[in-house]
Amino acid sequence: MRATVAVVDTEQLRQNFRIVQEYVAGRAILAVVKANAYGHGLIECAEIFRQEGAAMLGVAYVQEGIQLRQAGNPAPILVLTPPQPEEAALYCQFELQAVACSLSVMEHFAAEARRRGVRIRIHLAVDTGMHREGIEPAAVEGFLERLRELEGLELVGLWTHFASADEPDASFLWTQWRQFQEVVQRVRRAGFSVPYIHAANSAALVRFPETWATLVRPGIVLYGYQPWEGERLPVRPALQVKSRVVDCRRLRPGDGVSYHRFYVAERETTVVTVPIGYADGYRYSLGGRAVCLIHGKRFPVVGAVCMDEIVVDVGDEPVQIGDEVVLLGEQGAEAIWADELACWMRSIPYEVLSGLSIRVPRLYVGTEQLYDADEQLQSAPARV
Ligand SMILES: Cc1ncc(COP(=O)(O)O)c(C=O)c1O
Repeated sequence: MRATVAVVDTEQLRQNFRIVQEYVAGRAILAVVKANAYGHGLIECAEIFRQEGAAMLGVAYVQEGIQLRQAGNPAPILVLTPPQPEEAALYCQFELQAVACSLSVMEHFAAEARRRGVRIRIHLAVDTGMHREGIEPAAVEGFLERLRELEGLELVGLWTHFASADEPDASFLWTQWRQFQEVVQRVRRAGFSVPYIHAANSAALVRFPETWATLVRPGIVLYGYQPWEGERLPVRPALQVKSRVVDCRRLRPGDGVSYHRFYVAERETTVVTVPIGYADGYRYSLGGRAVCLIHGKRFPVVGAVCMDEIVVDVGDEPVQIGDEVVLLGEQGAEAIWADELACWMRSIPYEVLSGLSIRVPRLYVGTEQLYDADEQLQSAPARV
């Protein structure tokens, strides 16, 4: 195991799921586990959420669905991005549910399903204003008429996605919601009974119970982040990124640090090297902007972030090789969470979390074990 690890608190993930579950009072939950479960580990998180009662799992790509099936996860899985015609066989083979937004692709899917004697479950995507995927509300009738003739497909969901559920001004969300409601009514009037009507991501879920419909689709809130600045659920982050000091030196005034010597010491100071870099998802843009935690204090990341290493200016703090460094998470009374890293990166917490690369080993611990794991990390020999 390398010095840099992502410690994932599985008990906290369970807690977060339960908090959401209780809040939505019996609505079905599609747990969004795409992008390696926002960096927390696809297989592990999907299994935790399935055990906790998720009605469905949401992935972005068919490959992620296949990974879950190969790991033995039997939960219903919806692939959230529009499918390609050539993926039809995989949807059948791995029993994945598809987003429907193109008639020609659905004709292809229906043909493949008939050939194999199975049915592909589909969720009709309605574009109410996100303009990313889905059919125009006006095209719904035509789509449904064709769907009636197509054997091999089963319409189980009707959904839309909000463009701005996390913005203080919710007027566009309500425009989208009204359009979606009209479509839902038209689909019902056309004689379709669709079990899953869904729209709410984390922000809509937390703010607007009116949008819960029959299924909610939380992502970020399950991983412990508040989806917007207003109402809060008592969820907490479940992932920390920790490392260790692997080298240490004293600089003289005028000494430069890392590529291009962007940082030049103005006075005598100590800099330490930490083995994490942009290839781990610790972005280049963090150089000269981020801080990390050592001895429970904040110290600046100085100079350019390298592919595998960063340099931290610890001033006169007596830091030694092997000392723990927290890049994301808590140490003593201090904490750095993905929102703060995102500010330094000019980004959003979603990118911070999902961008944590697979090169960083994930260490899964429960709440009680977290401290043991920390001690293990502290007492493990330094890797120099
Ligand atoms: C279609 C869809 N539904 C739900 C989500 C979950 O969003 P959030 O993480 O904001 O809850 C996403 C995430 O991007 C998404 O693309």
